[in-house]
Amino acid sequence: MRRFRTYNQVEETGQELPAQVAAQQERLKDRLASVRSIWLVGSGKGGVGKSAVTANLAAALAARSFSVGGLDGDVNGPSLARMLGAERGPLRSDGVGVAPAAGVAGTRVMSMDLLLGSADAPLRWREPDAAAGFIWQSTLEAGAVREFLSDVAWGTLDILLIDLPPGTDKLSRALQLIPEPAGVLLVTTPSEAARAAVARSARLVREAGVRRAGLIVNMAGHACSSCGHVDALFAAAADHRLVQESGMEAWARIPFHAGFATATDAGRPPVLDDPNGPAAAALLALADRVASTLDTEPL
Ligand SMILES: Nc1ncnc2c1ncn2[C@@H]1O[C@H](COP(=O)(O)OP(=O)(O)OP(=O)(O)O)[C@@H](O)[C@H]1O
Ligand SMILES: [Mg+2]
Repeated sequence: MRRFRTYNQVEETGQELPAQVAAQQERLKDRLASVRSIWLVGSGKGGVGKSAVTANLAAALAARSFSVGGLDGDVNGPSLARMLGAERGPLRSDGVGVAPAAGVAGTRVMSMDLLLGSADAPLRWREPDAAAGFIWQSTLEAGAVREFLSDVAWGTLDILLIDLPPGTDKLSRALQLIPEPAGVLLVTTPSEAARAAVARSARLVREAGVRRAGLIVNMAGHACSSCGHVDALFAAAADHRLVQESGMEAWARIPFHAGFATATDAGRPPVLDDPNGPAAAALLALADRVASTLDTEPL
């Protein structure tokens, strides 16, 4: 018998349906009662650095002794587990739920990547571990995020960072699931090409009445690996227009730095090992800002 039922297993059995949905919502509520704050990291466009920002922010906060969870909401292109140095291996499950994997600096991580057999395995919905009595089938990414939220034993967390797939629609779905996040970080490159997508996402965040919303301007210039000099990557006018049209405050401006990508992608977020590097320093300042909002009163 399965101990966990997933949302897509709801069966149309007349009277039972509302009770099943209510039970599932209750489980989500119970699980999140021990999570002090949830922050969504989204973007209008892909490849702009959401996962790298999430991983470095998670590591920086964990290094300051906050309890931090990282949920990879990108089921088709998962990268958060790797960036947080979490090993793929059998996931343990008990009556409470599936234990998240251990990432750097004590972060707790859940990602579809941890459920797939090998790094290049395409996503196929199947049960990863029959003994875990846990199925992850879903046709919707939002379904997987919901299950990662409700069926993972996150424990008590000061902050749970959710790394979303690219697209305003994904942010919209996440806000349906978590209508009152502690904050949203919208990552973008300061390019003309990103302007419309950023404006759309920013409007969504504004209309949702999100409490704290910060624009993360990533790849704002290129920092030379030898001398540290920062050259422009995008036209200054495009940068200015994009920030202005979004109506959002820029919480961080992170330069492109070659060593930053290599270390982050290898699972050693440079905020831990190279805090004075130009990109890492910007992320540590962002971590300060996010940390200042965290409520650490006993639950
Ligand atoms: N400021 C930066 N300097 C150097 N490399 C960076 C920077 N930001 C991100 N990168 C690198 O760029 C690549 C893409 O970043 P990342 O995977 O975080 O983007 P993403 O927005 O999560 O992409 P997707 O939309 O596919 O989820 C990664 O290799 C990452 O390490
Ligand atoms: Mg990503």
